[in-house]
Amino acid sequence: MNNNLKISFANINNIHDIIIIQERLPIFTEKQLVNVLNDENRIILIAYSDNIPVAFICFAVLVDHIDIINIVTREAYKKQGIASRLINELYKFGSSKNINKFFLEVRITNTAAILLYEKNGFKKISTRKKYYTNPVEDALIYEYINI
Ligand SMILES: CC(C)(COP(=O)(O)OP(=O)(O)OC[C@H]1O[C@@H](n2cnc3c(N)ncnc32)[C@H](O)[C@@H]1OP(=O)(O)O)[C@@H](O)C(=O)NCCC(=O)NCCS
Repeated sequence: MNNNLKISFANINNIHDIIIIQERLPIFTEKQLVNVLNDENRIILIAYSDNIPVAFICFAVLVDHIDIINIVTREAYKKQGIASRLINELYKFGSSKNINKFFLEVRITNTAAILLYEKNGFKKISTRKKYYTNPVEDALIYEYINI
C-alpha cells in the first residue's frame, strides 16, 4: 500500500510525466496524448508518489458508460495497490457523472491486468477472437456495474 499517493486529472502540462510512466511500453505517442488531452470525452487520471509520476489510467466517457482505455503502473511501483486506487478514483468520477457502468477489453494472456480488474469488481462478459495483433490474441471483454 502506497500512502503518499496524490491522484489528479492530467492536462497538457502532464504529457512528459505520462511518457515517463509508460517507460518502454508502446502505449501513447506524444501526438496521441495531445489528442486525448484535448478531447473532452477522454480523461487521464495521473498518480504521483512523493511528486514522482508513477501511474495513470485513461478512459473514455460515453453517454451511459465509461470505457477504460489503458492503465499503467511503473515497474518500480507495481504491487502497491496504485492501479486499484486509480480504479477507485474512476468509480468516484463515474458516480459524480451518474455513470455506473464500466467496460474494458484485455489480452487473454495479461494475467496481472485480469486479476486487477477482477479484484475491483469487473466480470467477464464475452470474448473477441483474435482481436489483438502483434501477437494475435483473443480479447476478454469485462463489465463492472457500480451499484
Ligand atoms: C496491470 C497493472 C496496471 C497493475 O498495476 P499495479 O499498480 O501493480 O496493481 P495493484 O498493486 O493495484 O494490484 C491490484 C491487484 O491486481 C492483481 N495483480 C497486479 N499485478 C499482478 C501480478 N503481477 N500478478 C498477479 N496479480 C497481479 C492482484 O490481484 C493485486 O492484488 P494483490 O496485490 O492484493 O494481490 C500493471 O501490472 C501494469 O502496468 N501492467 C502493464 C500495463 C497493462 O498491461 N495494463 C493493462 C492494459 S488492459
